[in-house]
Amino acid sequence: MSVIDHGRTVADLVVERPGRTRVFEQLGIDYCCGGGRSLAAACAERGLDAATVVAMLAAFEGVTGAEAGDDRDWSQAALGELCDHIVSEHHGFLRAELPRLEGMLDRVVRAHGERHPEMIETRDLFEAVAAELDVHMHVEEEVVFPFCRGLDAGTVPEPPALEDSIRAMEHDHDVTGAALARMRELTGGFVPPADACNTYRATLDGLVALERDLHRHIHEENNILFPRAFVLAGVAAA
Ligand SMILES: [Fe+2]
Ligand SMILES: [Fe+2]
Repeated sequence: MSVIDHGRTVADLVVERPGRTRVFEQLGIDYCCGGGRSLAAACAERGLDAATVVAMLAAFEGVTGAEAGDDRDWSQAALGELCDHIVSEHHGFLRAELPRLEGMLDRVVRAHGERHPEMIETRDLFEAVAAELDVHMHVEEEVVFPFCRGLDAGTVPEPPALEDSIRAMEHDHDVTGAALARMRELTGGFVPPADACNTYRATLDGLVALERDLHRHIHEENNILFPRAFVLAGVAAA
């Protein structure tokens, strides 16, 4: 069994056991864009006691089955298989959820925008993120993932083409992560106010699910797919 200690990076702990994202989501610890920090640094940033968090992770070690969530270790799969998983699970989820939530946010703003102007900013941020993700997923599917699939077969693209396209994707992830954090801040942690109607509540629930899936999605790209592509292509990590 592996050793969980606070000197390891958050990303490393999640790559080893993806179900640990449940603990990190519960505690608000960023494991995707900010996954390169040690667990100790991530806990300090959230004002959490690292020893307590290590104990929570240790307690999760005994959790199996549905309780553990999707716990597949993608660090051992072929890159093409990981790309297929990302497209079908995460891009598919976004293509269904982004238009649905956009329509719901519009309705919430029309009905509640005057009393809750924070929802106007949330809607505007969401629209910008949705438009950017649409282009982003297209670039991944048409440019970046074909490079990764080729690497499985030993086809190494020109390093600048691979590296530039992956760095652009990582930059987009940072922008998306910051927008999600701002939406969480604006809505007080996606908690509905006392006067929220059912659509308002369902919209905030939808944003929580979107945030959770995007964290997992970005983690699988930033911390597993892209580093493995760089190793196979012989590109030094940044
Ligand atoms: Fe993606
Ligand atoms: Fe991405």
